[in-house]
Amino acid sequence: MIINTDLEQKGNLFPSKIVAYRKDVDTLYFTTENDVVLEMTILRDSVLRFRYTTTGTFENDFSYAITKHASKGYNFLEIEEEAESYKITTSKLICHIKKENLQVLIFDAKDHKLINEDELGFHWEESYEYGGNIVKMSKSSHDGESYYGLGDKPVDLNLKGKRFENWVTDSYAFGKDTDPIYKAIPFYTGLKDKKAYGIFFDNSFRSYFDFCQERRNVTSFWAQGGEMNYYFIYGPQMEDVVANYTDLTGKPHQLPPLWALGFHQCKWSYYPESTVKEVTSKFRELKIPCDAIYLDIDYMDGFRCFTWDKNHFPDPKRMVKELADDGFKTVVIIDPGIKIDMEYTVFKEALDKDYFCKRADGPYMKGKVWPGECYFPDFTNAKVRDWWSDLFRDLVENIGVRGVWNDMNEPAVMEVPNKTFPDDVRHEYDGNRCSHRKAHNVYGMQMARATYQGVKKFAYPKRPFVITRAAYSGTQRYCSTWTGDNVATWEHLWIANIQAQRMAMSGFSFAGSDIGGFAEQPSGELFTRWIQLGIFHPFFRVHSSGDHGNQEPWAFDEDVTNIVRKWIELRYQLLPYLYTSFWKYVEEGIPMLKSLVLFDQEDVHTHYRSDEFIFGDHMLVCPILEPNARGRRMFIPRGEWFNFWTDQIVSGGKEMWVDADIETIPVFVKAGAIIPKFPVQQYVGEIDIDEVKLEVYFKNGKESSILFDDAHDGYDYKKGRYSLRTFKLTGKSDELIIQQHKEGKFDAGYQKFKIEFHGLPFTITKVQIDNEEISLNDLKMNGNNSMIIDKGFTELHLFGK
Ligand code: NOJ
Repeated sequence: MIINTDLEQKGNLFPSKIVAYRKDVDTLYFTTENDVVLEMTILRDSVLRFRYTTTGTFENDFSYAITKHASKGYNFLEIEEEAESYKITTSKLICHIKKENLQVLIFDAKDHKLINEDELGFHWEESYEYGGNIVKMSKSSHDGESYYGLGDKPVDLNLKGKRFENWVTDSYAFGKDTDPIYKAIPFYTGLKDKKAYGIFFDNSFRSYFDFCQERRNVTSFWAQGGEMNYYFIYGPQMEDVVANYTDLTGKPHQLPPLWALGFHQCKWSYYPESTVKEVTSKFRELKIPCDAIYLDIDYMDGFRCFTWDKNHFPDPKRMVKELADDGFKTVVIIDPGIKIDMEYTVFKEALDKDYFCKRADGPYMKGKVWPGECYFPDFTNAKVRDWWSDLFRDLVENIGVRGVWNDMNEPAVMEVPNKTFPDDVRHEYDGNRCSHRKAHNVYGMQMARATYQGVKKFAYPKRPFVITRAAYSGTQRYCSTWTGDNVATWEHLWIANIQAQRMAMSGFSFAGSDIGGFAEQPSGELFTRWIQLGIFHPFFRVHSSGDHGNQEPWAFDEDVTNIVRKWIELRYQLLPYLYTSFWKYVEEGIPMLKSLVLFDQEDVHTHYRSDEFIFGDHMLVCPILEPNARGRRMFIPRGEWFNFWTDQIVSGGKEMWVDADIETIPVFVKAGAIIPKFPVQQYVGEIDIDEVKLEVYFKNGKESSILFDDAHDGYDYKKGRYSLRTFKLTGKSDELIIQQHKEGKFDAGYQKFKIEFHGLPFTITKVQIDNEEISLNDLKMNGNNSMIIDKGFTELHLFGK
């Protein structure tokens, strides 16, 4: 490993003094005496890009992470020359570039307080072996500053005191602190004096981040090639940092179909067809809701992608249709390794078209995966992606498969020490030809992109569903992801919780873990606890290696089955709440899970919390992570909260014990929230929904909640056929007002709301709807607890005593 900031180490080179600067619309160029150029672009008033070259000229500006629309923006540039530095001002930031050495200091434009400053700043070392530079950046770290993000790292939420590597790696049975694992998301959020900023180091080479591990007051990042090229994003709210990063690297191109937010059952592998049917029938028989069934590698003929094992699956189209008739969407796995076999058309085609990756000296990149020796398409070539996307026609359009699962796309290669391609393999990199050193971290992302392109095309007018294991920043535009091969242990339940939160604060909310653990076998208790956490993860799938026994909800004992059923039912009830939060993520880049620090960065108690998180806008969740627990201590963030199970009200800002026997985990709802619920269905679309429940949690004060809805699939919502309701709640000691504002052209099938009240401090004596008094009888009131309103309303006004 390269130790970057050790000044004793020979070879570090530094910029010298600035001799010239030039301005070009939204970009400034500062040139030093020794030919270093800093290109600084103002993308937004709170987003700056810093890019350095040591040769006076830049490489072609190309990134798989950054979306086109996000790369330009601000065209108002204010620069002043001062004695020691250049000063650049936006409405949110003041940035100083030191004339002496190109070091950067960034201040908040409002209170002039320092947000971030270079320590050594940009420096580099020449790479004698490969050419180019090892590019490095170091920043000062201040007392109390903390760090979050970096994708799927299985470590405490706060990254301070640790060093990480970004190199996507197949990591079977990884553990706490294993690094690197499956994803490379070189983006972190720093929190200094309760103000948040983000740094996205957009460099796909093997990169490293050191958060005060090597030196107590220094944070640094570096990469083994490419450019020092990073984005600085100011909040000061952490949520805004994440939303801005998500905007830069792209929000999902569309909402997922609603069914994809249902429950998914997977195993390596369900086969033959009769086994698949046994599993799906059992779900229906036991009335455990489920929307998706997965076929792992054994559905193929000798692990050849895009083929079927005709002994086990004689008529896939018929089977997929029968499953669909029973509400199950079929998702199949597709890996990147293509078996070397001249009789296999996919292989032959790719060979004829010259689409496989090659070694530097000419031969194909050959490696072993499930089918034996394989070649691998170069997904960094647009033509290869187009060809690949067309391969999905039969699977998706003809057979009716609804989702595709991309695995092993790190790319994973078996029986070689580095588990992947050698460094010298060549890639097209969309016209920027390079070696695997640069393309490795984006290979899986480009495969997922090509798959997405195909599934989208052939599923049209339905929405695509794709899931990937490997990812680089920006992959969230195309698909969902899972956290790879975990283990059925309590520690892994802890890891799963952290990883889902960390992915959400790294711009990739549509994530989940293999529930129950992939390797080894969970106890019924561990499985139950994992399901109880999993219902709050955007991607909700049970998966296991199948080597150690079954992992369906009925594979343990009846108690487990009953508890798990109840929880999966809760997931289905919460679908409108979850879907609304997905919509906010897709529209605004707001993470669907919010770690407590992201929810309330003003309270320093949240800065080191890892277990508790906010699901959507208003629900606080804390998993049970130990066997035999009857509850646990947890931190309740500031504000008033209702215990979801007992309606007991607690005031937050403190740690407390919360009871939770095996039937429950601690869940709280923020006072003032309105939580929408659908009736339980066995799968999305099973029933026509004619009544939605609104769970109203009283607050003495104001709070607003939203409810998004649309056709649950297709693209009409993009043309305005959606319904977005905003509910504004105002509570007083003897009154409650709920104002509803509706926009959008979609007419949800339901006219009726069943409104349930929690914590009303008065007895209802009179009700007005849109200023008209309604008799309490007409509202089918159940005591003081609920009422049914069967027409649209703008204002519901309760009076009481
Ligand atoms: C590795 C994946 O991580 C796992 O989910 C899958 O079941 C196996 N490959 C077999 O395809």
